[in-house]
Amino acid sequence: MNVTEATDFPPSLLEIVLFYAEAGVDEAIGEQPVDRTQAPPPREAVRQPANPAPAAAPATAGQSAQRQAMPPRQAASVTPALLSASEVEGAARRAAKACQTIPELEAAIRAFEGCGLKATATNTVIARGNPQAPLMIIGEAPGRDEDAQGLPFVGESGQLLDRMLKAIGRDEQNTYISNILFWRPPGNRDPSTEEILACKPFIERLIELAQPKVIACAGKHAAATLLGTTQGITRTRGRWHEYQREGINIPAMPLLHPAYLLRQPGVKREAWHDMLELAAKLEQLGL
Ligand code: URA
Repeated sequence: MNVTEATDFPPSLLEIVLFYAEAGVDEAIGEQPVDRTQAPPPREAVRQPANPAPAAAPATAGQSAQRQAMPPRQAASVTPALLSASEVEGAARRAAKACQTIPELEAAIRAFEGCGLKATATNTVIARGNPQAPLMIIGEAPGRDEDAQGLPFVGESGQLLDRMLKAIGRDEQNTYISNILFWRPPGNRDPSTEEILACKPFIERLIELAQPKVIACAGKHAAATLLGTTQGITRTRGRWHEYQREGINIPAMPLLHPAYLLRQPGVKREAWHDMLELAAKLEQLGL
């Protein structure tokens, strides 16, 4: 039913719900309506300590097993609304840098309070697949299915991605899959610069710890964030770039996002070309 065709007034509850769903409002994020024209009450700032916490005493064998899943102490909470984007990014960078293993980093991401998206997300979505894989695919942000299941690329676009990977002999055993954002933007809106900056140190550290040999960035936000591309994805896709950071140089390919392919099946030919490029690069590297 299209609510614009409705003639009765006032509209029924169903018509109102459909109106909002058509407008992309598909999540209820609070029990009570909030009047956003009113200034928020003053809140006490929770600031990141300027200096990192002192190093902990050496761990016993039992303690170090437990620490595997605990974020290091620098991952203290921050209140994003009260800090500038660069302060939040700095807090994220300190928290990420303190992590020496992927489980530690995962725990630090889950404990991080610097990205406002966390407040409306059901789950923190970090990665799936094999962290030791030679190929790492990095997308944009969890969608509704990913938010519900806590895993990246498990919805319709993820299933298409899996089929594309399978066509070049890749699966969860030899591919590692993540996103530049770890929480779903409400209604799948584009992420803001602040949200991207808050998460960027974590995805950079994940790349550092996973050490993939080839990276594919799915969509313009992933390519712009990690490769610094400034043109649209239809221009940058299909050509090799470099992921460069602190002595790391990894060949990286921007890809059309699978969600875009679902909407524009006419560009599957370009997408197939890019998958073949990925396969050729991996083969050339003996991977
Ligand atoms: N789109 C993305 O970019 N990432 C996901 O995990 C799902 C959809």
